[in-house]
Amino acid sequence: MITLQSRLERARERLAGHGQEHVLRHAEGLDPVRLDRLLDQVDALSLEQVGTLAAALHDDGGFVLPADLAPATIVRRSPDDAAWTAHGEALLRAGKVACFMVAGGQGTRLGWDAPKGTFPATPILRAPLFRVFAEQIHAARRRYGAMIRWYIMTSPMNDAPTRAFFAEHGHFGLGADTVMFFPQGTLPSLTMDGKLLLAEPDEIAVNPDGHGGSLRALRHAGALDDMRAHGIEHISYFQVDNPLVHAVDPRFIGVHAAHPGSSGEMTSKMVAKRDAAEKVGVFCASAGRTMVVEYSDLPASLAAERDGAGRLRFDAGSIAIHMLSRAFVERLTDHGLALPLHKARKKVPFIGDDGRRVEPATPNAIKMETFVFDAIPMAQSSLVVETDRAEEFAPIKNADGDDSPATSMAAQSARAARWLEAAGWSIPRTVDGAPDCTIELSPLSASCEAECTGLAPRAVERGAACAVHPLSPG
Ligand code: UTP
Repeated sequence: MITLQSRLERARERLAGHGQEHVLRHAEGLDPVRLDRLLDQVDALSLEQVGTLAAALHDDGGFVLPADLAPATIVRRSPDDAAWTAHGEALLRAGKVACFMVAGGQGTRLGWDAPKGTFPATPILRAPLFRVFAEQIHAARRRYGAMIRWYIMTSPMNDAPTRAFFAEHGHFGLGADTVMFFPQGTLPSLTMDGKLLLAEPDEIAVNPDGHGGSLRALRHAGALDDMRAHGIEHISYFQVDNPLVHAVDPRFIGVHAAHPGSSGEMTSKMVAKRDAAEKVGVFCASAGRTMVVEYSDLPASLAAERDGAGRLRFDAGSIAIHMLSRAFVERLTDHGLALPLHKARKKVPFIGDDGRRVEPATPNAIKMETFVFDAIPMAQSSLVVETDRAEEFAPIKNADGDDSPATSMAAQSARAARWLEAAGWSIPRTVDGAPDCTIELSPLSASCEAECTGLAPRAVERGAACAVHPLSPG
């Protein structure tokens, strides 16, 4: 039988071979359960991978602006949209589409001490983000008379509380067996000189491997097999922090699956950049492939270029909404998937030499992540579909300021006001045109403008809070 002591010695040797023996600095003082836990982590660690990560710490990301960089092919709104919508609806009715939400991030900017999806996000009823998407999926199932399964990527850190929240809320009536949770992978956080850190005396500091980890996680968790078993061919990908997303969008699905120029592998949505300087990735093309160029990599001169119509040439801002085919994710993950690593300097608390916890005042570590949009150039051809910011993008990233709960709630209310007004409601407006009331519209009542015609028009009073929800009196 292998004793803890002999495991410890073996681990020490392995780590020493890679200059990481400090990880066992406090091992002697651990009780057997905690030591066992730490040794499990060391055993699971690929020290070769840690070496590769450490070696990558000081390269600059290696992005070289392609000489042939051009704007990506954008599918703008057009009279053909009805045909794409009909195509998408047929796929939905045939049960070939699933939703996939990534909800594994750390949400550090928001500072919410629970999974981000539990954040109360709506302007009146303060429904948690998870409920917002659940109601959309519920409504879409009803509308298309078909099952739409929901795959949710968590992280090892928030997996248990996420599952518990869904269980507490009866899976929002969706049926527990139609929602699948699985955690993403992690990558070790490293000091600037490539050393592992201890988050606890018995725990190596790791961070979730970024939303790019979602593709491998789909494979490893058996979600792709589950999809195949259920006849699912297309995956609607969105992030947990954008309550305006159309989680099930037939036009987008139709363009992805059938538009000329689409390989049907990966399709993305864009919104026009607010201005040349907006800090958002931009869809570009090079050598026949579509790609997202990060704002920091796009030279200011290119970012400011305008076309003949006066529009920014590179105006296609990425909003992290994609369609992927199951076959594409299978192909990518058949033999392992290596997406580029993106690095960020972070403050990572750690256990110091003296065994005490250190809360660094300045960034002391590099967090590495992969991004899902780096899979786009791996598709044979990939289209980008235009949508409106006011219609689909109001993320909750920060506690206040831009992209905060306040801005997102205002955008939710403004969109609801617009939809209802188009359906004959009377909405009071301020002199600058903003709704002079707060409106919350549950997807169970209407999840697009057209569905609002099914609601009896009302006159909303100035300053009122009006929640349109089948379960609410307001
Ligand atoms: P963000 O890039 O906004 O990161 O994630 P975050 O971790 O949520 O927040 P900060 O940066 O710490 O403040 C965008 C989306 O990708 C998911 C998040 O849950 C969110 O839906 N994500 C991000 C993951 O699922 N896993 C990750 O490792 C990172």
